[in-house]
Amino acid sequence: MTTDTTTKDTSPGASAPGTTVLDARGVTMRFGGLTAVRDVDLTVSSGEIVGLIGPNGAGKTTFFNCLTGLYIPTEGEVRYKGQVLPPKSFKVTAAGIARTFQNIRLFGNMTVLENVLVGRHTRTKEGFWSAVLRGPGFHKAEAASRERATELLEFVGLGAKADHLARNLPYGEQRKLEIARALASEPGLLLLDEPTAGMNPQETRAAEELIFAIRDRGTAVLVIEHDMRFIFNLCDRVAVLVQGQKLVEGDAATVQGDERVIAAYIGEPLENDPGAAEAAEVEAAEAAAEATTDAAPGKENDR
Ligand SMILES: Nc1ncnc2c1ncn2[C@@H]1O[C@H](COP(=O)(O)OP(=O)(O)O)[C@@H](O)[C@H]1O
Ligand SMILES: [Mg+2]
Repeated sequence: MTTDTTTKDTSPGASAPGTTVLDARGVTMRFGGLTAVRDVDLTVSSGEIVGLIGPNGAGKTTFFNCLTGLYIPTEGEVRYKGQVLPPKSFKVTAAGIARTFQNIRLFGNMTVLENVLVGRHTRTKEGFWSAVLRGPGFHKAEAASRERATELLEFVGLGAKADHLARNLPYGEQRKLEIARALASEPGLLLLDEPTAGMNPQETRAAEELIFAIRDRGTAVLVIEHDMRFIFNLCDRVAVLVQGQKLVEGDAATVQGDERVIAAYIGEPLENDPGAAEAAEVEAAEAAAEATTDAAPGKENDR
C-alpha cells in the first residue's frame, strides 16, 4: 500500500486500509427454477484486490449484478461501507461502487474524453442530462470535469487519444477506457468483469499494472477473470464459485492447492508454466486434428 495521501494520487472514494468496503451476506439469486447464485458471502476491504473465479455459468456475473443494483438478490444483503445498498444501479454508483462489463459498453460515437465525462455525472451536481444537453450549469462544472477526466485518461494510458472516437480504439484500449470511465465516478470499490478478455499477453500485463495502480490510489478491486496466472499474480485473496456456490476462498497458494478446486475447475496444479501447458495441449490437439483431417474435412478452419 502506498502512504501517499496527496489528493491528486488518491481516489476521493478511498478509505483507511483494512476497512470493510464490501460486505455481501447470504446472496442468493434465482431465475425461475434456476439458482444462479446460492448463499454467497464475500467481503472486500480497502487496500485489497480480490479475485472471483469459476467455470463458465458459475454465477460470477450474476453475483456482480447483485452487487451493483442491476439485480435485486432473491435473498441476502449487500452493504457498502456499512450501508445497505439501494436497489438501483445509478444509486449504487453514487454510493461508491463502479464496474466494467464482460461485454464492453462504451458510447462508440462519442470521443474517448466524452465517455469519461459521462462517467463523472454521478459526481457533478449538474447530472447526466445537463452533461448531455449542455445546459447553463454544465459549463461551470465542465472545466473541472475535463481536467479530472484528462487526468484519468493519462492514468490509464489513453492521454493521447482523448479526441478519438471510442469505437475506433483497438480492443485493449476500449477496455482501458471502460476502466477510466468507471474511475470517473470516484469509486471506493471497482468491479471488473473479465477485464483482460481478448487482450494479448502484453496488454494483459499492462492491465495488471493498471489494477495495482488503482489499488494504490485507494480503490479496492474485485475482479472476475479466467486467466489464472493473471488472477494469482494480482489478487490478495481469491474466491471460487462453482454452480453458484462459494467452494473455497483464500490466498493464491490455498486456492491453487485445494483439491476440490483442481477437480472442479483448474484441472491441474499451476506450479509450472500454465501457458506452456496450454501450448502443449493446443499442439497435441492440432497434431491429432491433422491426423484425422482426411476423415473430418472442414474442421480445421473453425477459428
Ligand atoms: N437474466 C438471466 N435470466 C436467466 N438466467 C440467467 C440470467 N443471467 C444469468 N443466468 C444464468 O445464471 C447462470 C450463471 O450465469 P453467469 O452469472 O453469467 O455466469 P458466469 O459469469 O460465471 O459465467 C447461468 O446458468 C446463466 O444461464
Ligand atoms: Mg460472466
